[in-house]
Amino acid sequence: MKFDYKKYIRRQLLTLTPYQSAREEFEGDGRSMILLDANENPFSSEVNRYPDPMQKKLKKEIAKWKWVGEDQLYLSNGSDEFISNVIMSCCEPGEDSIMIVPPTFGMYKVSAKTFGVDVQEVPLTDAFQLDVDSILKTADQRSKVIFIPTPNNPTANNFDLNSIEQIIRGFPGLVVVDEAYVEFCGNPSVISWLSNYNNLMVCQTFSKAQGMAGARLGMAFAHSDFISFFNRIKSPYNINSLTINAVLKRLKEQDKVEEQVKLVLKERRRLENAFSSIPFIEECYPSDANFLLVRLDDSSHRHQQLLENGIVVRNPSKNLNCENTLRISVGLPEENNHLIEVLSNLS
Ligand SMILES: Cc1ncc(COP(=O)(O)O)c(C=O)c1O
Repeated sequence: MKFDYKKYIRRQLLTLTPYQSAREEFEGDGRSMILLDANENPFSSEVNRYPDPMQKKLKKEIAKWKWVGEDQLYLSNGSDEFISNVIMSCCEPGEDSIMIVPPTFGMYKVSAKTFGVDVQEVPLTDAFQLDVDSILKTADQRSKVIFIPTPNNPTANNFDLNSIEQIIRGFPGLVVVDEAYVEFCGNPSVISWLSNYNNLMVCQTFSKAQGMAGARLGMAFAHSDFISFFNRIKSPYNINSLTINAVLKRLKEQDKVEEQVKLVLKERRRLENAFSSIPFIEECYPSDANFLLVRLDDSSHRHQQLLENGIVVRNPSKNLNCENTLRISVGLPEENNHLIEVLSNLS
């Protein structure tokens, strides 16, 4: 049976006539043309012209790198923009819901709330794993999208791949697997599952292992029908020229990225070891990402003490089942040395 992506999309958006930007209307064929169509400043600078709205050159390179078709790839202004695109596209405000699995990445809920969309929460198990039975029991006709970040933030662990697959099979709506930290974990990406499951979307980012948080580039992979729909509703020039050029350069530096990931993983192990001899750290949770979640005696007090010593970490204690925890990113070796020294001297 032919896949019908339309059943996942809000009705009013299916008939929307997309905005046609100047650079979409006139694509160019390599000839040098006088461009008087976009009200740009004609004086040359690095960025006086609008960027390619469809980022064709960049998509070609990323598609080759990730082994997907260019028509299965959508680029966003960070994964944050994709998350909001999905919710806005699939959920009827005041009627539909997204599902999240707390403790989890905070933007899913915030994004849903900004669109007037309800949030169904199904907590992770005590081992911070997906509670597949509860997820599938709670899901109803209002559940349009579930967000599954693996490795998860703030708990740092991977989810079991079989559990994710069971959810994809049983969930009535779309399943977004958010692989922001995938380069740091042992599990392969689930991008290869796209050929089996039409209700799967995968997102990755240049903000973490790729070291380009300031450039803001997210990649989403999905059935080509979804991608062409997102291309119709996206803001016209969502990826700027500086980012496109910087990412094209970074794609040629993947050896360097791999080296950096290896070093981060080595440093993570060093931090884990060091934390085991800090008396007020009660537990350091297993990590598959570039950060560690630790449970300690008094997170507010320790957070404040670290600030006084010039070290900024995150206090996710308000998240479900994260009381008295701190989330600590792995830094440079000398920064980690300083962290260990400060923690060892705190009373
Ligand atoms: C799980 C997860 N997804 C997405 C993001 C956001 O990524 P981006 O910088 O691409 O918007 C984060 C950022 O911390 C994250 O932890």
